Amino acid sequence: MVASERGKGAAIVILTGAGISADSGVATFRRPDGLWEGHRVEDVATPQAFARNPALVHHFYDERRAKLASVTPNAAHLALATLERHWPGPFLLVTQNVDNLHDRAGSERLIHMHGALKKGWCRACDARFPWDGPMGEGARCPVCETIGMVRPDIVWFGEMPYGMDVIDEVIRNCDLFVSIGTLGAVYPAAGFVQTARYVGAHCLELNLDPSQGSIFFHETRLGRASEIVPQWVDELLQDVR
Ligand code: APR
Repeated sequence: MVASERGKGAAIVILTGAGISADSGVATFRRPDGLWEGHRVEDVATPQAFARNPALVHHFYDERRAKLASVTPNAAHLALATLERHWPGPFLLVTQNVDNLHDRAGSERLIHMHGALKKGWCRACDARFPWDGPMGEGARCPVCETIGMVRPDIVWFGEMPYGMDVIDEVIRNCDLFVSIGTLGAVYPAAGFVQTARYVGAHCLELNLDPSQGSIFFHETRLGRASEIVPQWVDELLQDVR
């Protein structure tokens, strides 16, 4: 069953992960060697790692932020922005990705549940703000002007993802839940499919390989996101255009 079979007002929630940006040249997280761009996740993506070695963590995220200038949204990001523009029912895109490829593709009803590389967070005044270029240990907060208290606005392991109240509410009311390019290894995102299934939504997975949560989906389509996502969006929009 596809959403259009439930009517044009069907509510769609889409969850994306690193796999959707892989075809743009952004590295995924869990590679066979267990390293993420040469680092163990616990050395760069926990508050403890930041407290222990802020220079290393800043350097890591500064490099990844700089890399965004050399990558562009691929056909999968663009297809989801097209879907949002044309879909007549409720729509929400939730991404675990900290890159800005969905934003640059034109997605607007978008939650970056794990934060964003292009944002900073001042631990002195709690403000969050756009950030371009390197941050480093000596960054000055543009709001309170304190130096050395700005960190990347990234949700690290052990921290609370953004937008959970809204995401939970929207999933509980959705008709179609689609997971794209995520391994399903990190909670709470990995559990969204179970909520969606519990409330009776049709659950579809689009991924290169079956994810760890594959058994919870009614349907799985395997392939590269830049190929299978535009195909799926075309099918969905055929009836509403
Ligand atoms: N097209 C579609 N899927 C792909 C592609 C591709 N071209 N390339 C890889 N994949 C799939 C892989 O098969 C894998 O299932 O994308 C998934 C990527 O998994 P992870 O690297 O674990 O990334 P993700 O699931 O997004 O990680 C979740 O973990 O480290 C934390 O906060 C970080 O947001 C991240 C979260």
